[in-house]
Amino acid sequence: MTHEIAMEPRTKPLRWKERHRTSDESIDAQHQDMLDIANELQKALYQGKGSEVLHDHLDDLIQFAQTHFSEEERAMCSNCYPGFPQHKAEHDHLIHQIMDLQEKINEGQEEFSMNVILYIKHWIMYHLVTEDHAYGLHLKHMGKGLTS
Ligand SMILES: [Fe+2]
Ligand SMILES: [Fe+2]
Repeated sequence: MTHEIAMEPRTKPLRWKERHRTSDESIDAQHQDMLDIANELQKALYQGKGSEVLHDHLDDLIQFAQTHFSEEERAMCSNCYPGFPQHKAEHDHLIHQIMDLQEKINEGQEEFSMNVILYIKHWIMYHLVTEDHAYGLHLKHMGKGLTS
């Protein structure tokens, strides 16, 4: 049986682009992996997978984000990034938001749906193109080779 989400309009998977590069290869690779995990969640939803699979993908995304944020924060400290306090506060806020969403899903106040996917996509991309990009510019000013 096809899940009802298959009848809704679909959105394209998230794609990492050159302009997202921070010139920290490890961070860039993690960003690509994070987008892949979000895409897997979207794919599973579109394929009508059961809630257990969807929960597992969301768990993966949250765990990955926590590890990524910690590593990014360590890199920022090593590179004397002046925006670190605000950036860390933003990471903490993002984790709070995604865990809040997970709690709502677990408690049945929210269902895995297109809206949840759109929320998660925005949750990832907005930070990447604003705050992480700003960190990339800092690396560029340090001579670490960001090209745009
Ligand atoms: Fe970040
Ligand atoms: Fe990041």
